[in-house]
Amino acid sequence: MKYYLTTPIYYTNAAPHIGHAYTTIAADCIRRLKGMQGYDVTLATGTDEHGVNVERAAIAAGKTPREYTDVIAEEFRQQWQILGLAIDRFERTTSARHAKVVQDLFLRCKDRGYVYKGTYTGQYCIFDNAFINDAKPGDPCPDCGRPTETVTEENYYFKLSAFQDRLLDLYTNHPDFIQPEIRRNEVLAFVRQGLKDLSISRTSITWGIPVPNEEKHVFYVWFDALSTYMSAVEGENLWPADLHLIGKEIVRFHAVYWPAFLWAAGLEIPKRIFAHGWLLFENDKMSKSRGNIVRATPIHKVLGTDALRYFLLREVPFGSDGSFSYDALVGRYNSDLANGLGNLASRTLTMIHQYRSGVVPRGESDNHVAAHAQSTVELALEAFERFDFSKGLEAIWGLIATVDKFIVERAPWKLAKGGEECAGALDSTLYTAAEALRVVTALLYPVLPQSAEKIWSQLGMPTHLDSVRVADLHWGHLAAGQSLRAVEGVFPRAEAKASIEKMKELEAEELVRQLALLGKTAPAAPTATPLSSAAAKAEAGNGQITIDDFAKVDLRVGMVKSATPVKGADKLLHLAVDIGEAQPRSIVAGIALAYKPEALVGRKVVIVANLAPRKLRGLESQGMIVAASVGDGAPVLAGFLEDVPIGARLK
Ligand code: MSP
Repeated sequence: MKYYLTTPIYYTNAAPHIGHAYTTIAADCIRRLKGMQGYDVTLATGTDEHGVNVERAAIAAGKTPREYTDVIAEEFRQQWQILGLAIDRFERTTSARHAKVVQDLFLRCKDRGYVYKGTYTGQYCIFDNAFINDAKPGDPCPDCGRPTETVTEENYYFKLSAFQDRLLDLYTNHPDFIQPEIRRNEVLAFVRQGLKDLSISRTSITWGIPVPNEEKHVFYVWFDALSTYMSAVEGENLWPADLHLIGKEIVRFHAVYWPAFLWAAGLEIPKRIFAHGWLLFENDKMSKSRGNIVRATPIHKVLGTDALRYFLLREVPFGSDGSFSYDALVGRYNSDLANGLGNLASRTLTMIHQYRSGVVPRGESDNHVAAHAQSTVELALEAFERFDFSKGLEAIWGLIATVDKFIVERAPWKLAKGGEECAGALDSTLYTAAEALRVVTALLYPVLPQSAEKIWSQLGMPTHLDSVRVADLHWGHLAAGQSLRAVEGVFPRAEAKASIEKMKELEAEELVRQLALLGKTAPAAPTATPLSSAAAKAEAGNGQITIDDFAKVDLRVGMVKSATPVKGADKLLHLAVDIGEAQPRSIVAGIALAYKPEALVGRKVVIVANLAPRKLRGLESQGMIVAASVGDGAPVLAGFLEDVPIGARLK
């Protein structure tokens, strides 16, 4: 029986961090769990490479979008490899077969009457690739807080409104379709409010999959991205997916748009969507834009990937938000892995080596431990099935504690000194401990694949763990007479201070390496356009200016009212910027390669308002627009996360 699961496909405008790893690790864990249940499992992930913000990131890095996404896609691929994740398909939205799947999906929707042409004017968030209904020009995006952009264009529309009742029936009749419950309720509330038709093509951008027979249109990134779930397994008879695992911020796209697209095309919808919560760092969602990112490879190098897997799945109830901290990571590693599981494994195996020459003795099982093991298997599997990894792990650690206590009570080191009389009790103690270790190890394989395999091998098991099935978890499967292999510590204790310092040091190195990949040279914030000649002159001295020097520069918030290309100058745009004066300022800015004129209208910008006017290409420029200069000098306009009134002064 097949089981096909997916992770979101990750945007290629940023390098991977443990937020992305969180989903992919959880998917890998589910993949292994389903494998244990006997399914023929396929796990697909990939990269989402189209859209304005990827295009802009590429320009800022001085690369073509394709060159840029090649590098970042490879970075994601390697990341999963380094972490040892069992990825079966890695699909890029820039692949030719993916483009064909997207175009076919569109044509099917169109042929069946669910697509029409219209004109769209509205606010768009280029970072979330979402139209913001009811937003006014200049309003921030409600999700990420960044300024929205006004877009007017001819689009293809998808008749989302036609699916409202069918979607509500789906959520009601199949409550498992979108889980956890809190997300299902949000989706229900959203759909009950009424669904508007959805624009699914763009004419304002070029970096996308072309709409068939419409050379000016490319597909809206979500129409493109969601289809990856099908293109990843194109021609393999694996559709529909059994599970889409996602983060909570993209529920609407998966639980509302995606089934509607598929129904419109006459295709089957996925069976289940599960949205987990956010991984927070320093009390905020870990994300590139917030700059509070932790990367996985430093943790992998210092404590091992399994330490990260265990921490993420044990510490954060799956579905809720949770915080990452190095202290908590090392704390859990030492208490649960080094002292808990690692200690149980090494003491059990060492005693069998010492007292029974490394051969599993034939001994009677202790009933209490055997019963606890059986109930733990049931409890943990049931919790894992609900993706409640934390609960399942808690139960397994309960069993570890029971076995530890059992060993202490039976005191095999004393029994070993008791000669023949105690031989039976010693055999029984060692067999019980070893069998419990076998059950625990097999049960932990989905969560700790690398370390569990090491313990499994030291137990002398004849097969690899990936071939173990749920039925093997029954008590009593450990064969007496089996020879153990040499004991090696699996989780060496970590000295907290030193290992945290090491991870932070490696984190800094990884940051620099990833910034270089993204076309940035230094970890510091990008340098802004020089402010004014006065400030520049002052700076020429000892590199510092006084507050009075800075106060000479009149920086103002303005809103772009119009933007037009400047004839014969492919880098220049002529802007009218309202800074709260009687007339908008005329400003000529060298930003045409990075920004399309229509994307600027309605956007808030920062300008130097007291710069002496000058003429450029016959047009008067009454100020200068402030931008960061990144990569080879590509501009990225300064903006605000909060709403700021026009004319506000920057101090
Ligand atoms: N490209 C879209 C998804 C398209 S799927 C058809 C996208 N990409 S993303 O790069 O922003 O990745 C989002 C996903 O990465 C989240 O849904 C989540 O699975 C994971 N995470 C990224 N940051 C995360 C946290 N800080 N915490 C938890 N998960 C995080 O959205």
